[in-house]
Amino acid sequence: MHIPVLLKETIEALAVQPGGRYIDCTLGGGGHAAAILEHSSPGGQLLGIDADPKAIQIARARLETYSDSILLVNENFANLQAVCIKYGFYPVHGILFDLGLSSLQLNGDGRGFSFQQDAPLDMRLSPGQETTAADILNTYPEAELAHIIGNYGEEKFSHQIAHLIVQQRPVKTTFHLAHIIEEAVRGRRGRIHPATRTFQALRIAVNRELENIEAALRQAVSLLGIEGRLVVISYHSLEDRIVKQFMQREAKDCICPPGTPTCICQHKASLRLITKKVITPSLAEVQRNPRSHSAKLRAAERTINQDEQYKLADNPNFCLRVEARAWRRPALAKKLRRTFLALQTYTF
Ligand SMILES: C[S@@+](CC[C@H](N)C(=O)[O-])C[C@H]1O[C@@H](n2cnc3c(N)ncnc32)[C@H](O)[C@@H]1O
Repeated sequence: MHIPVLLKETIEALAVQPGGRYIDCTLGGGGHAAAILEHSSPGGQLLGIDADPKAIQIARARLETYSDSILLVNENFANLQAVCIKYGFYPVHGILFDLGLSSLQLNGDGRGFSFQQDAPLDMRLSPGQETTAADILNTYPEAELAHIIGNYGEEKFSHQIAHLIVQQRPVKTTFHLAHIIEEAVRGRRGRIHPATRTFQALRIAVNRELENIEAALRQAVSLLGIEGRLVVISYHSLEDRIVKQFMQREAKDCICPPGTPTCICQHKASLRLITKKVITPSLAEVQRNPRSHSAKLRAAERTINQDEQYKLADNPNFCLRVEARAWRRPALAKKLRRTFLALQTYTF
């Protein structure tokens, strides 16, 4: 059973409300999804996405009581916008990313994510993906392997590990790989098992995890209604850096390099940071669920700038969209409608 991490904090950060419409981009075992559905009832709707077909199957069974309010899609969240357009599921009140893998995947489901059980080195989230971890280990040049292990695993001994892997090819199972790594870092054991970082690096490379997060975050912002919430839980520094930098950049009206005399970027803020400081689990949660120890939650709220108001005003359905989007603050809806009328007089 996967225990959802930072559950209360996630529901608060998403500001889940009855009748709201939410997207869980990392459905997993459906733990967060169940809580979102509970807090958004009556009338709440949830689009759940997961790249792993097994996760969809498990979550569908768990969320059976909400079957009228859910739409579950087996897709990579890198295609988030296409999924939402296909099903007309936008704008939404909140979008959640709970990155990484679920306990069900990590605890050895035969795909080689963990070095605790012997299994073939697959590591693909979806069987539709082409490249497995074994493909990478057994075909990539030594320098590229070292680069992956060093960059995605932040492993100090990446060159020694890559060298020994190449010498011992073909590497086919998790136990074989873990043994090679132990040999490569012999006598230099740290707090964590020496294979941890290399396994993380391979998983990131196989599933293009970092590229997918970047792509999905950009799409997520465009799917949020005004004051819609974006909430991301990450589990290692590479993910968290991407999330933090993305949110900080999108919360700024200018992203010109420091020292630029006048703004040339014309960037406009589309987010407002909700969590100025990152949210981490309490000691009690870490004791209850050790997997949560590295979790970091960041949240932001969708804002709308004047340029976007002009763009929206070009849309004949703007009034309707304003009504649909400004759900939380009737006063804001009224103000936007007034702006629209003013623009209409001025523009047309
Ligand atoms: C930490 S688990 C989510 C657990 C879930 N929040 C719960 O409470 O049960 C992460 C899930 O995201 C999925 N995932 C990871 N990367 C993905 C991607 N690029 N696209 C879609 N799903 C992805 C994994 O298959 C996994 O099931």
